[in-house]
Amino acid sequence: MHLMTPVRIGDLTLPNRVAMAPMTRARSSESRAPNELVAEYYAQRASAGLLITEACSVSPLSVSRPGTSAIYLDVHAEGWRQVAERVHGRGGRIFQQLYHMGRKADPSRLSPGERPVGPSAIPSQQQAGGANTYFQFGEPRALATAEVAGVVGEFRNAAAQAHKAGMDGIEIHAAQGYLIDQFLKDATNRRTDRYGGSIANRVRFLLEIVDAVSGVFGAGRVGVRISPHYRDGGIGDSDTTALFRHVAAALNELGIGYLHAIEAGEVGARQGPPEGKPFLMPMLRQVFGGPLMANSGFTRQSAEAAIVAGTADLVSFGSLYIANPDLVERFRLDAPLNRPDPEKYYLGGPSGYTDYPALRDNGAA
Ligand SMILES: Cc1cc2nc3c(=O)[nH]c(=O)nc-3n(C[C@H](O)[C@H](O)[C@H](O)COP(=O)(O)O)c2cc1C
Repeated sequence: MHLMTPVRIGDLTLPNRVAMAPMTRARSSESRAPNELVAEYYAQRASAGLLITEACSVSPLSVSRPGTSAIYLDVHAEGWRQVAERVHGRGGRIFQQLYHMGRKADPSRLSPGERPVGPSAIPSQQQAGGANTYFQFGEPRALATAEVAGVVGEFRNAAAQAHKAGMDGIEIHAAQGYLIDQFLKDATNRRTDRYGGSIANRVRFLLEIVDAVSGVFGAGRVGVRISPHYRDGGIGDSDTTALFRHVAAALNELGIGYLHAIEAGEVGARQGPPEGKPFLMPMLRQVFGGPLMANSGFTRQSAEAAIVAGTADLVSFGSLYIANPDLVERFRLDAPLNRPDPEKYYLGGPSGYTDYPALRDNGAA
C-alpha cells in the first residue's frame, strides 16, 4: 500500500502517510493544560505517520468551551510535555496546532471588559457551543495596526512553549474561520492598512506568523492548515482561487514543512467549492512544491487512490481516528473499523475518548 510508504517533512521521515487530523476533544484541565488522560489518548494513536494535536490557543483572548487547550503559559507546556513524552515513548511524532479564535471566541469566558478581536468589526453569523449553552457571537473589536505585531508575538511565544514541551513541530491553523482565516478572506477583512485590501496585504498576517514560528522550529517543522471553501458564519472570499494561489506560492517560498488543505470531494459540500467553482487541490499541487496533506471525508481506499494519483503526499483522518486508535494497523490489514460516537466528541472523561478498542484488545491481531 502506498499509504504505508515513508514520506519526508522537513528533516523528519514519517514511516507512513497517515496523519491524525487536529481535533478538539475538550478533555483538558481547568488551567487549559492537558492531563494524563489526554496523554493516554495521543499515545494510543502514536502509530500515525504524524499526530497533529487539537487546536491550542495562543492567547487568553482565544477561548471556547471548557476543557479546550492552550499553549501560552509554562503550565500548558508542562502538560504538553507529558503528551510529547508518551507519544515519543511509543515511537511517534507530534506537531502542535496553534490557533487564535479571533471573532469566534466565547465572550462569556473572557475577563471582564475584554472583547473578542478580529481584523474588522464584523460578527460571525454562526452559533457555537459555549461554556453553558449555544450562543451567538458578538461584534469583535478590530485590532489596531500596532496591535497585530503583538498577536504575531503570541504565536511566537506559543511556539517557544511547544518547543519547550518537546513537540516535533507546529501546525498553524489558518482554517475554519478562525483569526488567520478572518484576515485572509475579504468578507471578514475590510481593513485599509497593510493587513487589508489587496491579497498580498491580507496574507501578510499569516506570513508574519509563519516567519515567527519558523524562527523557533525552523520552517521545515512548520505546517499550515487552510480551508479555502469554508463559509460558515458569513466568512468567504470574492476570489478564492487567486487568494489561495497566492497563499500556496508564498508558503512555497518560505519552505514550510507541509501544506494541509481541507477540501471536500463534492461541489456544494460544506468544505467543497460552490457550484461552478473549481476544486483547488490540483492548483495547490502545482504551486506548492513541498508535501501536500489532504483532508476531509477520506477512506482507506480514497486516500490510497489520492497517493497513487499523486494528488496528495499524505492524508489526514479525523473522525476515523477518534474511533480507531490503531487506524494504521487496521488500514494495513484492511480490518473493519470502529464507528465514532459524535455524542461523546466533547463529553469530557474517558468514555468515547480512550476506550475505543484496538484490534489486539479483541485478540484479532
Ligand atoms: C470532534 C472534532 C474536533 C475538531 N477539532 C478541530 C481542531 O481543533 N482543529 C482543526 O483544524 N480541525 C478540527 N476538526 C476538523 C478535523 O480536523 C477534520 O478536518 C474533519 O474531521 C474532517 O476530516 P474527516 O472527514 O477525516 O473526519 C475537528 C473535527 C472533529 C470531528
